[in-house]
This record gives sequence, structure tokens and C-alpha cells, in this order.
Amino acid sequence: MKLTEALAWRYAVKAFSPREVEAETLRGILEATRMSASAYGLQPYRMLVIQAPEVRRQLLEHSYGQDKVLHSSHLVVFAAHTALGTDAVDHYIQRAAASRNVPVSELDAYAQQIQGALARMSAAELVAWTKNQAYLALGNFLTAAALARVDTCPMEGFDAAGYDRVLGLSQQQLTTAVICPVGYRHADDPHAGYPKVRKPFGEMVAELGQ
Ligand SMILES: Cc1cc2nc3c(=O)[nH]c(=O)nc-3n(C[C@H](O)[C@H](O)[C@H](O)COP(=O)(O)O)c2cc1C
Repeated sequence: MKLTEALAWRYAVKAFSPREVEAETLRGILEATRMSASAYGLQPYRMLVIQAPEVRRQLLEHSYGQDKVLHSSHLVVFAAHTALGTDAVDHYIQRAAASRNVPVSELDAYAQQIQGALARMSAAELVAWTKNQAYLALGNFLTAAALARVDTCPMEGFDAAGYDRVLGLSQQQLTTAVICPVGYRHADDPHAGYPKVRKPFGEMVAELGQ
């Protein structure tokens, strides 16, 4: 399926069928998402894949009644880091040096640049910034799923503090950024037939200096 066809096919599913997404298919979507770009390459978030109904039932209490968090094949929680210490940068630099087969010392200046940028952020700015990276991953997740003909519903309609409590995220210096139930659309979901609502191309794209 072509990319634009996949993007036209996908929509924010309101009702999922009971059909499960195969582990291999979901793995492929998560693999594609793992390739997402991120600022400095730090990938400051995690993707938590939740299937257990008892956990999802607890999360439903913090989802403003949106029961697709329970009635879908899987729930993916994009959790952003709330703190990034020198160790996070050190790990990244070590990984980069190993991947590129260069000594760590060659990346010293880059490491300093990253540390400096992080140090200049307030705690609130840092979380806003790590959440931005998680949203970029969410975009790729939606597209990768659509290409695999797997349905999704990106969701901001939840209480992050409640999710963090249920999932024990604060202790791990993580917070819920955005969530995404995954599965297959229910045959009775009326939203499946709704036409796409999008701004016209000319309203969205400005070609300057032509
Ligand atoms: C960041 C984000 C948060 C969203 N939150 C919700 C939500 O909580 N519940 C919901 O049903 N849809 C949610 N949506 C779906 C949007 O309403 C939907 O993507 C938009 O109306 C465009 O329609 P389409 O995705 O079906 O093409 C969200 C979408 C995004 C990208």
C-alpha cells in the first residue's frame, strides 16, 4: 500500500474489534518507531506495551471513559523522561562511538554541547522537550501501523498523573506523554465511514520565494 493511501485509510478508531494484533506485526511497528529521529539522538522516552486487562482496567479510570484503552488489542503508552542526567548523555555517546566505531574521545565536543543544552533547560522545559520527542515517535507509530493495516487511536484524553501512578512511572523518572490503543476497527464503528477533514493544501503549505 502506498504511503498516502495508508494515511487516507487510517483514522482515529473509536471502537475496536476483539481481534488481536499478532506479536510479530506489533514488533515491526515498534521497530519502525524505534528508528524515529530525536533531538541530539537521545530518544528520551520509552514505549510501554500493555495488554494485561487488570492494568488497563485501572488505566480506564483515568481515561475520561474512553474504553478503547481496555477494549483494543494493546495499549501503547509513550512515556517521556522527566530528568536526563549526565549518565543519559554518556550512554548515548558510548552507543554512538560503538556504532560508528570511533573512540569516545572523538565525540567529547558533541557530548559537551548536549550537556550544555540540557543544563540550560528548566525542569518544565526539559519535560516539554522530551514529550516533543515522544510525539514525533507517535507520528511514526501511527504511520507504520497504517502501512501494516493496523488501526490506532492517538489519545491525549487521559489524566497523566493517574497513569503515572498506576504504572509507577515517577519512580523511573518518566511521565505519560501520550497514549495509543492499537488493534482493528470494529465493523460497527461509524467513524470508519467519515470523510477526512483536512485543511486544503494551499492553506497548509506556503511556498515562499518562488
Ligand atoms: C495528539 C492527539 C490526541 C488525540 N486525542 C484523542 C482522544 O483522546 N480521543 C479520541 O477519540 N481521539 C483523539 N485524537 C484523534 C483526533 O481527534 C483525530 O486524529 C483527528 O480528529 C483527525 O481525524 P483522523 O485521525 O480520524 O483522520 C487525538 C489525536 C492526536 C494526534
